Amino acid sequence: MPTTKKRILTGDRPTGKLHLGHYAGSLANRVSLQDVYDTFIMVADVQALTDNFNHPEFVRQHVREVVMDNLAVGIDPSRATLFIQSLVPEIAELTVFFSNLVTLQRLQRNPTVKTEIQEKGRLFKGGKVTYGFLGYPISQAADILFCRAHLVPVGEDQLPMIEQTREIAEKFNAIYGDVFPLPEAKMSSLGRLAGLDGRKMSKSMNNAIYLSDDPAAVQDKIKTARTDSGSEIKFDPEQKPEIANLMTYYKLVTGMDMKAIEQDFANIKSYATFKEQLAKAISAFLAPIQEKRKEYEKDPARVDDILRAGTARALQEAKTTMALVREKMKIDYFI
Ligand code: TRP
Repeated sequence: MPTTKKRILTGDRPTGKLHLGHYAGSLANRVSLQDVYDTFIMVADVQALTDNFNHPEFVRQHVREVVMDNLAVGIDPSRATLFIQSLVPEIAELTVFFSNLVTLQRLQRNPTVKTEIQEKGRLFKGGKVTYGFLGYPISQAADILFCRAHLVPVGEDQLPMIEQTREIAEKFNAIYGDVFPLPEAKMSSLGRLAGLDGRKMSKSMNNAIYLSDDPAAVQDKIKTARTDSGSEIKFDPEQKPEIANLMTYYKLVTGMDMKAIEQDFANIKSYATFKEQLAKAISAFLAPIQEKRKEYEKDPARVDDILRAGTARALQEAKTTMALVREKMKIDYFI
């Protein structure tokens, strides 16, 4: 169906279930934007393989999980296009053409890649890094540009990727002729949600609350989260970083502002009570998400159908873009 709406592309690596950090950083934004934008959501299995090439079954196993997480938070498959990256080979083709436009030095400077190489020291021993991993920002630019997306809802950590995508689009357009819009990042208005220990919320750091955590798991995680000295529930990130962090969770799941939260707990002055309430509020927030997820868990064929239809739509867009690219790059032989 042709559409005049502007386009969104965003995606998730299928390396684990999604957590509240994903929700705050990107999922909530996607859901609210899917009415206004023609929305493409990619399961980035090719990107996941850049640092999981040695256990492909792990990547495969998580493909349906991330799709179900998206559906559970309210992505509507009749409006949004959910698809699998590796089934759109045009993305890999674009990656090859784009790789001529990016220097090694530029890739080595990408802050997200730099941090990840450090974090994945075990995989990239002695700072040695694969060509595929170092180059994944180019592949991510192809993810975004294959459907000529205008907007990319992402968390803060992805900003350098969007910056690099814009550089690639700009360079392509300047050399070969206009094909690509310069995509913009769309940051979440909910703000960054840190992990239970204050670091980035991440599966690998064991500090995440998953969208699929049951009330017992949530309670356990909140109970054992660190607190500060004192007993007052006050939002003071300098003096009380741990409590301030937990208060951002409370804010996210209740939609209340900090002042209202402080007022509600003004007479309580007990971290334990606050934590109990917080755990309850998180589980209340997650309950409808989990209910919806269960429907899909019971019906994997439906999830596959959604992916199949979405991938067909993505392929169509990819073909349209590639025709333009081939023409501009003068490789449109025999057509
Ligand atoms: N790099 C993103 C992440 O780790 C996932 C991703 C892959 C993505 N391709 C994308 C995000 C394109 C936005 C646009 O979360």
